[in-house]
Amino acid sequence: MSSFINITDSEKAGTELLQAQNQRLASIEQLAAGVAHEINNPLMALSTEIQLLLETSKDKKLVESLKNMDKFSKRIAGIVTDLVTFSRDISTDAREFSGINSLIEKTLLSMKRRFKLTNIKIVKKFDKILPNLTIDKEQIEQVFINILMNSLDIMPNGGKLTVSTKLSSTKDAVEIIFVDTGSGIAKENLPKIFDPFFTTKPPRNGTGMGLSVCHGIIENHGGDIKIDSELNRGTEVLIRLPIK
Ligand SMILES: Nc1ncnc2c1ncn2[C@@H]1O[C@H](COP(=O)(O)OP(=O)(O)OP(=O)(O)O)[C@@H](O)[C@H]1O
Ligand SMILES: [Mg+2]
Repeated sequence: MSSFINITDSEKAGTELLQAQNQRLASIEQLAAGVAHEINNPLMALSTEIQLLLETSKDKKLVESLKNMDKFSKRIAGIVTDLVTFSRDISTDAREFSGINSLIEKTLLSMKRRFKLTNIKIVKKFDKILPNLTIDKEQIEQVFINILMNSLDIMPNGGKLTVSTKLSSTKDAVEIIFVDTGSGIAKENLPKIFDPFFTTKPPRNGTGMGLSVCHGIIENHGGDIKIDSELNRGTEVLIRLPIK
């Protein structure tokens, strides 16, 4: 975050840090992909069994219990899907040539009510003449939602969220920057925020997969995602997506 650290002094250190972080995450990705794959097959079999029993059962109590089992197995399936996305084992089929500003606008609009209710002011600083990007719009929207949800969570009593877009200084990428005025991330937690299941939120409020999913999607698009934060000042999320 330009106001938090001196970018010029630390640019090299920042790149090295990002490389080290990505290397570490790459080994976790491998493990995650293996676990997801191994869980997926028995989970599918379990879901099928539950569905079959649901179709034939008449006993009210049994049906209720089967519906619960179905709900929990769907929850596990959701976690497995997040692990697969984190490990970048995701399809590139649905990519299209799209503008990034309109996608951010669409995402912000879908969450407008929540920001208003929480008293969060949105400031948009869009570069209007950005080139289109080859992206999976659904996946990139998921990234924006996850980041915006984190800002919502960290500013329960209101604040400011600034969303900017611009061409990178090297002109080969588009940068999307989210800055919130929340209470920030403790220094010791910063290296862990992209790890699957890392969360500081109470159980049920977060599974700790949001940023892991963002990392998987952005890396899969050939880009990178960086987060800077300072306690009691706020957090900046910087996403770079290549122009190609
Ligand atoms: N904008 C932010 N401000 C402060 N802390 C943040 C912010 N974004 C992420 N974090 C920290 O990073 C952790 C991991 O974030 P992540 O989105 O991966 O998981 P989560 O929000 O805890 O749960 P989930 O996204 O799965 O519901 C959070 O628990 C929080 O401690
Ligand atoms: Mg989250």
